[in-house]
Amino acid sequence: SGKVRGAARGLRFAPVAPNTADAVTVPEGYAQNVVIRWGDPILRGAPAFDPEKQSAKAQAGQFGYNNDFLTLLPLKGERGRQVLFANHEYTDEQLMFPGYDAENPTREQVEIAWAAHGLSVVVVEEDRRTGRLTAVPRHHLNRRFTATSEFRLTGPAAGSDLLKTSADPTGTKVLGTLNNCAGGTTPWGTALSGEENFNQYFANAASVADPEVKARLKRYGMSGGATERKWERFDDRFDLAKEPNESNRFGWVVEVDPYDPDSVPRKRTALGRFKHEAAQPRLTADGRPVVYMGDDERFDYFYKFVSSKRMMKGDSRAAREHNLTLLDEGTLYVAKLTGDSPAAEIDGSGKLPSDGEFDGSGVWIPLATGTTSHVPGMTAEEVYVHTRLAADKVGATKMDRPEDVEPSPRTGRVYVALTNNSRRGVDSNPAADEANPRNANKHGQVLELAEHWDDPAADGFAWRLFLVCGDPEDPSTYYGGFPKDQVSPISCPDNIAFDPYGNLWLSTDGNALGSHDGLFGVATAGGRRGEVRQFLTVPAGAETCGPIIQDRRVLVAVQHPGEVDGASYEQPASVWPDGPGKVVRPSVVAVWREDGRGIGV
Ligand code: FEO
Ligand code: CA
Ligand code: CA
Ligand code: CA
Repeated sequence: SGKVRGAARGLRFAPVAPNTADAVTVPEGYAQNVVIRWGDPILRGAPAFDPEKQSAKAQAGQFGYNNDFLTLLPLKGERGRQVLFANHEYTDEQLMFPGYDAENPTREQVEIAWAAHGLSVVVVEEDRRTGRLTAVPRHHLNRRFTATSEFRLTGPAAGSDLLKTSADPTGTKVLGTLNNCAGGTTPWGTALSGEENFNQYFANAASVADPEVKARLKRYGMSGGATERKWERFDDRFDLAKEPNESNRFGWVVEVDPYDPDSVPRKRTALGRFKHEAAQPRLTADGRPVVYMGDDERFDYFYKFVSSKRMMKGDSRAAREHNLTLLDEGTLYVAKLTGDSPAAEIDGSGKLPSDGEFDGSGVWIPLATGTTSHVPGMTAEEVYVHTRLAADKVGATKMDRPEDVEPSPRTGRVYVALTNNSRRGVDSNPAADEANPRNANKHGQVLELAEHWDDPAADGFAWRLFLVCGDPEDPSTYYGGFPKDQVSPISCPDNIAFDPYGNLWLSTDGNALGSHDGLFGVATAGGRRGEVRQFLTVPAGAETCGPIIQDRRVLVAVQHPGEVDGASYEQPASVWPDGPGKVVRPSVVAVWREDGRGIGV
């Protein structure tokens, strides 16, 4: 159709209409397959998935639950193969276990949940004739990291008293990673993974005696008694009244070297501790990585870390070892934004100010460099472990839930997905400002940031809102200035990816316009800037995660399909991906073009 031809290169597909089908719906002329499902065996000796006879031992060798971030890394010497890295953010026990009793989980169920959390590394193989992508079980690079695997804390806060527990008096050795949401891919061939809502696993903050410790826990969302999953009944480290520092060992960016099957993943303290959504680096002109990061909470902040060390090129052992130290030394900054329109013109409705744009300038406020704190009254260790409190003190800008924050590999401009904020301007909460211009913000916005002199290490930037999401017919929405009668409606942007042509792709979580969530592509430059086009939708109850846009293939993680209030193993709200009578399973999906040509060309 004319519509398809008119789109920007890379986005020339017939957009998928908003819908509520219990399926992955792709554009006409495109095909799909399930690459890997929750429970598929990936390690040597792991049994086939059997939901009626699941065990913790089996799960520890199988693909985990609720796949979120995905990245694909090249695999030299093995034709048609790549290394897939996946996060497993959390578990939905009601959907996983027959007859689950939420008040009385069994030890085996809890240990299965520990093993279903974490990360997977699994080699995948393409079928050149059909476009299908499938897992290669038992490959020597395949790995699982769970809530009980060994991780090491590195960087300036490693070994701090704040990180010591009775099980680990060194403050450097942690068991497990939790709530790994989105992540990033480094130019030196490692994967980054953000530990996000770790607070939900820690019980009994209410019983902590020390008022200062209690206040810190509260700032990180821990103030209650028993947790929903009741893990504290099976391991004291999840009980804050017994181990008040254990939760300080979560909320970090984790770095994994998927090419070394013996490597111990590192939690990088120099990148600060908060509800890390994701972390994506860009190199400065002299080769130092700058990592952009969001803290996904209403009224929290976005950050960057500037390394003081240069990346070494090449694949030598010396280069690989050196590059694994890049994220341990540098400066952590938080963003402060100022609008350029009179405050009186920002009335919380989303109406554009008289200069026609939500825009302004910003500064990066330094929080700590190595062992030096830049925040009065806090040591550097305190800044890294309680980064939110440091950012509060320096007056950073309270944003509408910063999810993914990613630089465009083509232009260097940084995009921040601000997913929504139902509390903006409500009760005594901060009211709308130019960067967060709608009160009770249901649909979110996407901010575009240009560093001064295009230098990712710069201390200031210009910014403007690229998208103000929601129904295109609603006057409070803005689609980059593109005519809104020609766009796909988008709501609640979450993850960000770029295609080979420089288009921005956004996946959504919590679409508030009546459609299931989906994946969207949008041009950021040229005459079609702002033309949002929907590429796929996901099944009932699911969120679209982990998008990867390659030349000839799109990958998405279909997370928490069937997660609908009141749904259970026995009464599912989705029958995806295997149909009626089969348990609903979070899975990775590959999409390609039936005629074998590139995506959207
Ligand atoms: Fe796990 Fe912020 O999404
Ligand atoms: Ca303005
Ligand atoms: Ca997310
Ligand atoms: Ca989200």
